[in-house]
Amino acid sequence: MNPQRAQWGSRLAFILAAAGSAIGLGNLWKFPYVTGINGGGAFVLVYLICILFVGVPVLLAELYIGQQSQTNTVNAFEVMHKKRTLWQLPGWMGIISAFLILSFYSVVGGWILDFTYHSVLGTFSGAPENAKTALNSLFQDPLRQTLWHFLFMFSACAIVIGGIKEGLEKWNKILMPTLLILLLALLVKSFFLNGFSQAIDFLFEPNFSMLTSESILEAVGHSFFTLSLGMGAIITYGSYLSKKEDLVKVSFALALLDTLIALVAGLVIFSIVFSFDLEPASGPGLIFATLPTLFSQMPGGYFLSLAFFILVGFAALTSAVSILEVQISYLTDKHKISRKKLTAITAAITFLTGLLSVFSTNIMSDIKIFDLTFFDLFDKLTSNYLLPIGGLIISLFFGWVLGPKATKHICGKSRLAHLGLLWITRIIAPFAILLVIYNLTIGF
Ligand code: PHE
Repeated sequence: MNPQRAQWGSRLAFILAAAGSAIGLGNLWKFPYVTGINGGGAFVLVYLICILFVGVPVLLAELYIGQQSQTNTVNAFEVMHKKRTLWQLPGWMGIISAFLILSFYSVVGGWILDFTYHSVLGTFSGAPENAKTALNSLFQDPLRQTLWHFLFMFSACAIVIGGIKEGLEKWNKILMPTLLILLLALLVKSFFLNGFSQAIDFLFEPNFSMLTSESILEAVGHSFFTLSLGMGAIITYGSYLSKKEDLVKVSFALALLDTLIALVAGLVIFSIVFSFDLEPASGPGLIFATLPTLFSQMPGGYFLSLAFFILVGFAALTSAVSILEVQISYLTDKHKISRKKLTAITAAITFLTGLLSVFSTNIMSDIKIFDLTFFDLFDKLTSNYLLPIGGLIISLFFGWVLGPKATKHICGKSRLAHLGLLWITRIIAPFAILLVIYNLTIGF
């Protein structure tokens, strides 16, 4: 344990930083596109159920483990268990997940930077088809993607080197609420598009014939990805949290905000898809092909487009910082090398690995492993397997090892809540995750 460990300036600062980790490309880029690929409503329903019954309990477990142990994600399990055991496994897996996720996350962050640059140039003003052209030429250009990917990773690295307080708190307070306001403004605009009601049907009318075992796993995986769960990001952030904090309130607020942002982004994007006859299942390029189309039709579109991509870029950066922080907080607690050096080395290695994702849309698009490009492989391996399995072990550790003492501490006087949390983390959440993975990989 480390009594000198820095703590969050205030509760609000923590919530904003945790929200900064949770809210990112997962909500704005990934949620709409995986929903599109998986057919809409039924996928969204499974995703919402996962958030409530798996996401929130695992979120509570991670916050508690971080808050009580006050240390990095690998040591946290040792401190809580008072000995070294295999329960540390999710800590180790988390370091690997963090590394793989950041490698492709930074590439997509780079796409956002490219579209910010296009917004400055005014590429999207008045001509809806320009977005598609810009996206295609970006995907075909490895050098351009590499430069943006470098810039994104460099920024994340610089913020992490700056230290946790100065680096994050200042910006989070202003930019996260601004993003929410901008999204709500776009929602109002979408309401007047003729594709709005179709978007509502698409997102909220479940068509269960579209639900395959793969899309169920995708929904489980995405609920982990979007809440930053299963790899210790929240354990790491929780470790900077004061021991007095009410975790239940924090968790529900976080899950609600994260889900709200994803749903609003989804509604806006699918309203555009159905109004302009675009393809809902068009994959990772969806947000880039749709939103500029809307901006090009709006008065003040030039500024809206610019503001939007800057804010999304910032949201992505705060998430990337939390992913990098998982690795750095472990490495600095363990090694005597300076935080600066460790961060620079980790970022450099992650950047190089990210090149495999850069090349997945161009020169290496034919190289497939399990029928997936490197980009898709890293995404699916982490979201659909490593994070849920990490979450499963964290849930079991919390439910069986820490047990009633932890759930009583979290839930206070409410017996129902404490028993509910105890049995969800002991049986329900782990069993559900196992079932879904088993069903897809081995089958019934
Ligand atoms: N939750 C982040 C997002 O939605 C991504 C993330 C995943 C961050 C895992 C930390 C850990 O964009």
